[in-house]
Amino acid sequence: MHRRLIAPGAIAASLLLAIPASAAGFEPGAAGIGDPYYPASGNGGYDVAHYDLRLKYQPATDVLEGTATILATPTQNLSRFNLDLGLTATEVRVNGLKAAVATSGAHELEVTPAVPLPKGRPVTVVVRYAGKPSSVRIDGWTAWHRTPDGGVAAQEPESAAWWFPSNDHPLDKATFDVSVAVPDGTQAISNGVLQSQSSRIGWTRFNWRSDKPQATYLATLAVGKFDITTGTTANGLPVLNAYSKDLGANAGAARASIERTTEVAEWLEGLFGPYPFNALGGYVPNVTSGYALETQTRPFYSPRQFANGSNVSVVVHEIAHQWYGDSVSVEGWKDIWINEGFARYSQWLWSEKEGEGTAQELADYVYATRAADDPFWTVKPGDPGADNLFHGAVYDRGALALQALRGEIGDENFFAILKGWPAKRAHGNANVGDFVAYAESVSGRQLDALFDTWLYQPSKPAAPAAAGART
Ligand code: ARG
Ligand code: ZN
Repeated sequence: MHRRLIAPGAIAASLLLAIPASAAGFEPGAAGIGDPYYPASGNGGYDVAHYDLRLKYQPATDVLEGTATILATPTQNLSRFNLDLGLTATEVRVNGLKAAVATSGAHELEVTPAVPLPKGRPVTVVVRYAGKPSSVRIDGWTAWHRTPDGGVAAQEPESAAWWFPSNDHPLDKATFDVSVAVPDGTQAISNGVLQSQSSRIGWTRFNWRSDKPQATYLATLAVGKFDITTGTTANGLPVLNAYSKDLGANAGAARASIERTTEVAEWLEGLFGPYPFNALGGYVPNVTSGYALETQTRPFYSPRQFANGSNVSVVVHEIAHQWYGDSVSVEGWKDIWINEGFARYSQWLWSEKEGEGTAQELADYVYATRAADDPFWTVKPGDPGADNLFHGAVYDRGALALQALRGEIGDENFFAILKGWPAKRAHGNANVGDFVAYAESVSGRQLDALFDTWLYQPSKPAAPAAAGART
């Protein structure tokens, strides 16, 4: 131990060398972010700030290829980390250096950087990848809709792994630049603002920007031949809607609904406060599925939703999600009620405004038409289980819970909460307990029993004081 012989500078140099050279204290990030409903979703050990996707898609072959550049920060000393991707990564670089890559499970990409990554020091990850999204199956299902003229990524709780590598969980939101080249005459639709589009050598490139934190499942890509309408909101936000040229008899009803998005958003601003994003719109590809999804700034709609004429109610639902679900996101999938209960309740309030039945009448109707032995009442909206994430009870019993809350605390408190929550939690995450605590703090009431009854009991609650009893 010739301590005296070592100059201070030499000690510093040997410490610096020790960081990359030693694996001590550097551990692999977890293969999941820790969601009990979906243990493989997302990953541990880092936080993504931004995704830059530069892609090319050929509808004729369903081949998607390109480069994802991911800006992230390790939240621990990382020897290795995972990304979620169903397509094939051909090269991964971390801070410019080639990384070793392995795959595990259905969609885990294990990345071992050449140099371990210290906690807190931002990293740049470049993934070159390619594949056919329609050939990707994860747990037996797909989030990719192949259409006659292209393809669409839109599904919940997961869709990202079909088209880009990510930390695929709403807990890790990020901003997005999505640039997609498609054959001339075809369009590529995504979230946010269309910054520019240009054509050369037979390919048209569309450059989209979503500049507020966005959950990975709310990122969307739709390639096809669309009729596009554009406009501006009263606040100057760009509006862009896209309708497949192939909607047939549903085309009129789709437009008659989605062209009212600006009106719906303005009405919702009265309830929920300022619209949280930089753009507005909707799109209807020629898919055969029947659901809609609140893809950020630009919801995805199915042609089937317009089969009976206009359906502004579904627009109200998806635009309500921009506050409840997109700006304020679930902490875990168990918290789905803070999305769906409120989106459904917004539809009830719209019905009331349109003179098609008040929220109270609709609540009474759901309550009366669901007998006590209906399995509907066995689903707990506050903890429905992964298999029942989108069960009707999460929506309708979830909205009943809000009507019961309204009856208990009165309109003034209730509407203060509806507006205050998206402001308090803007661009973040929350769980059901956070909402209950917030409702208690605004109303000054103890509400555990009410929420326990409406969200957590596997049986039909006694008729609420509000249901039919309010005068
Ligand atoms: N959040 C979507 C909605 O409420 C639900 C999507 C559910 N997905 C499905 N395949 N059913 O509109
Ligand atoms: Zn919904």
